Amino acid sequence: YIRQKSICIIHPYQTTESHEVLPKVPVPPLKQTLDTYLKCVQHLVKEEQFKKTKAIVEKFGAPGGVGEVLQKKLLERRDKTTNWVYDYWLEDMYLNNRLALPVNSSPVMVFPKQTFRDHKDALRFAARLIRGVLEYKALIDARALPVDFARGQLAGTPLCMEQYYRLFTSYRYPGLKTDVLKVQMNAASSVPEHIIVACKNQFFVLDVVVNSKQLNETEILSQLEKITKMAENAEERLPPVGILTSDGRTEWAQARDALIKDQTNRDSLALIESCMCVVCLDEPSGLEPRDTTRALLMLHGGGREKNGANRWYDKSMQFVVGMDGVCGVVCDHSPFEGIVLVQCSEYVMKYITGSPSKMARASSIRELPPPRRLLWKFNPHIQGHLAAAGDRLQRLVNNLDMDVFKFKVYGKEFIKKQKMSPDAFIQVALQLAFFKCSGRLVSTYESASIRRFQEGRVDNIRSATPEALAFVKSMTDERATFTDSEKMKRLRDAINAQTNYTIAAITGMAIDNHLLGLLRIAKELNMEKPEIFCDETYLASNQFILSTSQVPTTVEMFCCYGPVVPNGYGACYNPQSDHIIFCVSSFWENTGTSSAVFVKVLNEGLLEIRDLCNRGSAAATKLADCSQGAGQPHKSGK
Ligand code: COA
Repeated sequence: YIRQKSICIIHPYQTTESHEVLPKVPVPPLKQTLDTYLKCVQHLVKEEQFKKTKAIVEKFGAPGGVGEVLQKKLLERRDKTTNWVYDYWLEDMYLNNRLALPVNSSPVMVFPKQTFRDHKDALRFAARLIRGVLEYKALIDARALPVDFARGQLAGTPLCMEQYYRLFTSYRYPGLKTDVLKVQMNAASSVPEHIIVACKNQFFVLDVVVNSKQLNETEILSQLEKITKMAENAEERLPPVGILTSDGRTEWAQARDALIKDQTNRDSLALIESCMCVVCLDEPSGLEPRDTTRALLMLHGGGREKNGANRWYDKSMQFVVGMDGVCGVVCDHSPFEGIVLVQCSEYVMKYITGSPSKMARASSIRELPPPRRLLWKFNPHIQGHLAAAGDRLQRLVNNLDMDVFKFKVYGKEFIKKQKMSPDAFIQVALQLAFFKCSGRLVSTYESASIRRFQEGRVDNIRSATPEALAFVKSMTDERATFTDSEKMKRLRDAINAQTNYTIAAITGMAIDNHLLGLLRIAKELNMEKPEIFCDETYLASNQFILSTSQVPTTVEMFCCYGPVVPNGYGACYNPQSDHIIFCVSSFWENTGTSSAVFVKVLNEGLLEIRDLCNRGSAAATKLADCSQGAGQPHKSGK
């Protein structure tokens, strides 16, 4: 019955019918959240500090206290809105963040290195990719994408498809204080269907529909050839305006204010802001295209001197085709999560590699109007912004310490054989790696999808559990006081705690969204900021020194992103049946972190845990053999 009913989700999500299918994100009970909060932080802060925090939290949650007032309002908000946390979360997580989008916020997909025979071959790949994007978009527009169903923990329930409808319809406008994410839902068919192509830091409009008919692959290729020719023309070349979008959001907003004083710039911006997606034709970087290098090039384009300005970071989807075969996707994170980005990227990649080329015969190519170069008017003030943005991007480029590590010894299958959740196991291994690096655990973020609910995005699994701390201590204890069975018990406890937190998070019972909701309600009521949110513990617990997420793929490619704090690590992982890809990032400017060191100890830890499990299994088998032997008649007759 559930499946039958959920089929209507295939059709527009805006209908009340589909909203009836998925439940609303719940508001957890106040006491439950406060108790969990204390449990999450107790082992991460000093004892004195914890005592203070506990008193503050108890006061907040006391009968008739501030917490109750806010909780009541939050429940009212839940009744009135489709998703009570959506706007709060979007602003807090993305729109209010003033940091530059590349590295700090925008995740990327890195495709396998392509081998192009020549320039034309690369353009052929780009034309194919654009056709793939158009086919995928047609599925979205027809609301014909099959509904996703949850896998892994609590598998089988339908998931909200809303994020897919934002892939090609969103644009993030920079603001002086906060950004604005505009989504053109129900885009009328009259809206121009065009792609922006970036080539040699110039921007071109590629209309993909001419005379009501979409361009075929050959026509797209011919348009791309015209674009590259136009971009070659040094006399017409304009300054690298795209670099402005790589700047801090406030700085870009200021530059944009200066740009829009001129009508030419306004027209060009309007075309970029209404496009379907950006396709970046990148120049060869001249670097050895290893996994780590390709990840870096996707994350920041290699800076001003390479392809750093051949981007428009506000646009949700940017497909990168490097003439040297370095390809992938860069996305603005605010409209959707990595899982949706993967679905789209995989579709496009399968389209490119799966079906035979659909090159039309020369006779069937139409005479098409040439693509248009976007024009810009610059004054010295804007030139100043360009130079400053370029400097800041350069600093970011020099600062990013990235290490893509393929752990080949085992993958999900080995972990499942231990009767453990692969995701929880990897999270515990990441905790062990962090502990080996710095001798402590820190506030950790793991994204948990809440797409089981209407317009659900994510909440946080706080993976630095007390049980994880007990386990990593037993594994690193120099006096070797812990027996294998004690370590094994602690491993199982840590994995169970992690799995239980995961289940709570994906069912809407985690604490981060809830605490944010209470904080925002207090602000809306113009109340003085409750003490719980000014407390040192709360502030520290929101500095995610370890920021992790699972982004699995079924096609050869991987996702990565940068750290979210200056002294932190980003750790994105892609578990496969017999190997796991880890993308570890940190900043060189922070002397306390090193991606290479993290990867080294992660590898060590994964091997140590495997050995522990194997010794445990061997001991269990021996025990079983012995007890079986004991139950059998003694042949010797002794
Ligand atoms: N014994 C044996 N097998 C087990 C097991 C156990 N104790 N526990 C789990 N498994 C199996 C599952 O059945 C599943 O099998 P499948 O591969 O056949 O589907 C597999 O192991 C994976 O499950 P698990 O590792 O527990 O994790 P999960 O798939 O449920 O993932 C999250 C957990 C938190 C990653 C997931 O719920 C989620 O939220 N994903 C989205 C993350 C996200 O948003 N990322 C993008 C951020 S931009």
